[in-house]
Amino acid sequence: MSTPHIRAEKGDIAKGVLLPGDPRRAKYIADNFLEDPVLFNDVRGMLGFTGMYKGKRLSVMGSGMGIPSASIYISELYKFFDVENIIRIGTCGSWIDNYGIGSVFLAQGCSTTSNINRKIFNGTFCPLADFSLLRTAYLKSIALGKKVKVGNMLSSDLFYPLADDPKFENWKKFGIMGVEMEGAGLYTAAMRFKKRALMICTVSDTKTDERDMTPEERETSLNDMIELALDTMWEFV
Ligand code: HPA
Repeated sequence: MSTPHIRAEKGDIAKGVLLPGDPRRAKYIADNFLEDPVLFNDVRGMLGFTGMYKGKRLSVMGSGMGIPSASIYISELYKFFDVENIIRIGTCGSWIDNYGIGSVFLAQGCSTTSNINRKIFNGTFCPLADFSLLRTAYLKSIALGKKVKVGNMLSSDLFYPLADDPKFENWKKFGIMGVEMEGAGLYTAAMRFKKRALMICTVSDTKTDERDMTPEERETSLNDMIELALDTMWEFV
């Protein structure tokens, strides 16, 4: 049952898939968090693995960057491989005060600069997270003592917008927590195929903090987010 972008059999992929942008991060998760991981896809280097986590079968796969790339993999996972739950784990820029590097944002909804929904509705579609995934992840992140915020994100088509573009300022004025590049594609596909989705983002850069994450911060906050996503997914597979 291969698709143009995923060469695998239906049963090779679990009901729940963690979806980082970077395929090498998918391999890192498989190597460090899953037992007996098996590679199910390497078409275009978009590595996907299935293994065991705390006694249950889970998968992890890269999505690539941006809504067009991510939407291809997400649509094929939902439509052709019977995947029921996808949790995107990504990094984002923070646009709000007091949520600096290492904070966790749970995307309740994803606004977007993308055109994907502009042509198919006679109004503005609102891509939302699955509430049960969101609630579970929120309660688990509080229990872990994470600095977490739930709200609206921006999925931008541009990593490098024009400097000082006033339109970006408007997103900030309306309380958008931060910016990344895939969430609206995930939530739209989940709502279209009647499946569950959630996006968890770790803040990797902020408007006030010039510094980058240190390698240690990157590793620990990444590992925390991976564990939060795995433990949340565990409840749904
Ligand atoms: N913009 C878009 N995507 C991102 C960013 C950003 O500043 N940081 C991490 N992912």
